[in-house]
Amino acid sequence: MNTFTVVEELGVAVVSIDLAGSPVNILTAAVKAEFETLLERLGAEKSVRAVVLISGKPDSFIAGADIEQFVGLPNQAAAEALSREGQATMDRVAAFPKPIVAAIHGTCLGGGLELALACQYRLATNHPKTQLGLPEVQLGILPGAGGCQRLPRLIGVRAALDIILAGKSERAAKAFKLGMVDELVPPPLLRSLAVAAAVRLLESGLPRRTRHGGAVAWLLDANPIGRALVYRMARKSVQAKTGGHYPAPLAALEAVRTGLERGMRAGFVDEHRRFGELAVSAVSRKLVQIFFATTALKKDDGVEPGTALPRPVRRLGVVGAGFMGAGIAGTAVSQAGVEVRMKDAELARVGKGLKAARGVLDGRLKRRRITKQEHQRAADLLSGTEGFSGFPRADLVIEAVFEDLGVKRTVVAELEAVLGASAIVATNTSTIPITEIAEGAHHPGRILGMHFFSPVDRMPLLEVIPGAATAADTIATAVQFGRRMGKTVIVVADRPGFWVNRILSPYLNEAGHLLMEGTPIEAIDRTMTRFGFPVGPIALLDEVGLDVAAKGGGVMHAAFGERLTPADAITRMLADQRLGRKSGRGFYRYEGGKKAGVDAQVYRLLAVTPSDRVSPQTIEQRLVYAMLNEAAMAAGEGVVRCPRDGDIGAIFGIGFPPFRGGPLRMIDDLGAAPVVATLRALQAEFGMRFAPCAALVAMAEQGGRYYDGVTAAAPQPLSGAS
Ligand code: 3HC
Repeated sequence: MNTFTVVEELGVAVVSIDLAGSPVNILTAAVKAEFETLLERLGAEKSVRAVVLISGKPDSFIAGADIEQFVGLPNQAAAEALSREGQATMDRVAAFPKPIVAAIHGTCLGGGLELALACQYRLATNHPKTQLGLPEVQLGILPGAGGCQRLPRLIGVRAALDIILAGKSERAAKAFKLGMVDELVPPPLLRSLAVAAAVRLLESGLPRRTRHGGAVAWLLDANPIGRALVYRMARKSVQAKTGGHYPAPLAALEAVRTGLERGMRAGFVDEHRRFGELAVSAVSRKLVQIFFATTALKKDDGVEPGTALPRPVRRLGVVGAGFMGAGIAGTAVSQAGVEVRMKDAELARVGKGLKAARGVLDGRLKRRRITKQEHQRAADLLSGTEGFSGFPRADLVIEAVFEDLGVKRTVVAELEAVLGASAIVATNTSTIPITEIAEGAHHPGRILGMHFFSPVDRMPLLEVIPGAATAADTIATAVQFGRRMGKTVIVVADRPGFWVNRILSPYLNEAGHLLMEGTPIEAIDRTMTRFGFPVGPIALLDEVGLDVAAKGGGVMHAAFGERLTPADAITRMLADQRLGRKSGRGFYRYEGGKKAGVDAQVYRLLAVTPSDRVSPQTIEQRLVYAMLNEAAMAAGEGVVRCPRDGDIGAIFGIGFPPFRGGPLRMIDDLGAAPVVATLRALQAEFGMRFAPCAALVAMAEQGGRYYDGVTAAAPQPLSGAS
């Protein structure tokens, strides 16, 4: 292996890291071994007075330890040893007799940042691709190569916990402000300024570092009483966020605490011990599987590899300047950097839509996702029209008009009349079959569905739906463009509800049935947030909008019959003009836009008397098994191309608890036979809607599974996607 190349200038060994055959640098066992040998050589070489570590990759410094390695860890002791060895490598860097400077451009994550932290000095490029962070808790582990010890010592306990406990990455400018890096430099000058810094270190020693935050930082970070308060607040906030389902952030907090209160050595021991426990835990295994699944989806254009190439999209048209249209436009300019022309029938609506699209950019600026310059650049890409001016130059048009087949067909016809020969028309629908929308079109091969979730800029999933005649390059173009918009994209079949709303439908119905039996709203929602969903099903109905939910529920009922009959709770709510959060009245009360507890009048409206007759276990079982059964049925019909897509769709689309791995993974964990048995028991008590689907029964009989180990089988092309 030759991951490291060394060039000497001015007595400084510039070590370039470039892991062959990998798009990013990662710290595999072999890389670590080669690095250690190199360190030994450089330590002994008289001509070398200092070292600069720089990457040979375009946009990756080091993306961390090798995650693949975690999968193969046989037991806790092996995981602990891996962390201990990582700590030892970083210790060797920290104790190296000559200054080592990290010259960072691109992603500097996990073990990559831990290495940089062990260096004496850090420069980073002021480039959007440069991100520094410790994302370990997102994989269910903690920074196990000294990160829990070195980061708080460098930037203070509060700032360090903020990064470590959330698994956050920061842009270089913020990292500089926090004191994680010593110099912020333009990319072309990185190497020469790093060499200059190394020479400076040799001549004048380490610069004096001042801690940010003034008196507050001193009070909270620099004395044990202040720190005790910081730990207590951090623990409370972690518990509120994780609901006790994710042990890694609390373990990381303890490792940080041990190190600061009992010394670095004790901290290292605590850190590797806890790393060992976490790395082989079921939660971490699930989160690692999700990492691999999302990484695989980044490369999956939704078509048989080699059958079609995505076409470039430089200009996007958006028809319909409502909430969805504006969300799509705002996200497209800021994430994909394309010109966007929005169209609506009246200029006033166009103006409102453009304002809302700019609101998306303002939100991203406020959350520091983009800089002021990027905000300005993105805003300049937005324009509007009440006609179709500019549309002939669009490569892709996404329509987000009223959810009505006739209206959508008219829009398609109008677009076909003005668009260029290869332009694609995507319809953002959640209920109408794409094949029906494309019926009568001149170029049905260039029409497909792109189902965004609301709010578009915050929801990470996109469903791409080919109709019966959609061409493969149309699919590939939409998938790739969705990814450019920052979405995780799954390609799903043109069946009612597609994937996400299909599996959501029986779950929401069941919540309605429970409510109509008198189960208190709080009990239903609390049970499901304890299960791990971010919000309960009744609160979700309020968020989605009861009119939208009623429409979707009606479509599913019409398509699948009695099994998906909605409870009439929503109809009664609509009769009382309750639309959910957007109307300020739903199952919950809203005060000043904020959710303010269950509206007790709802029970009278529904003519039910709330009672605790149904236990939380039964609530959970009825809701979860309704979804599992539907997921198995839809997967059996080929609504998703593989279990991976189904689980990622459920996690990213409706917040299915990531630590459970998704509904199909959960069936595997429970075993198909026990799932069938539970469904049969529920069927006996509550009726045929719980009858286990044929796919599950067959699986139970044959002892089948969705997954074979860590990854799912390769995705299958959907019918119509040829
Ligand atoms: N380990 C193993 N493989 C990794 C990896 C890692 N840490 N980081 C990236 N890769 C692989 C991906 O699996 C993918 O492999 P493939 O080409 O064979 O499918 C390839 O590198 C490219 O990755 P992406 O497609 O994700 O490239 P992007 O440019 O979109 O994203 C990234 C790059 C932001 C670095 C993203 O890959 C990422 O977030 N990686 C994980 C970072 C991470 O979690 N690091 C912490 C690791 S744990 C650790 O360091 C423990 C330590 O504390 C002891």
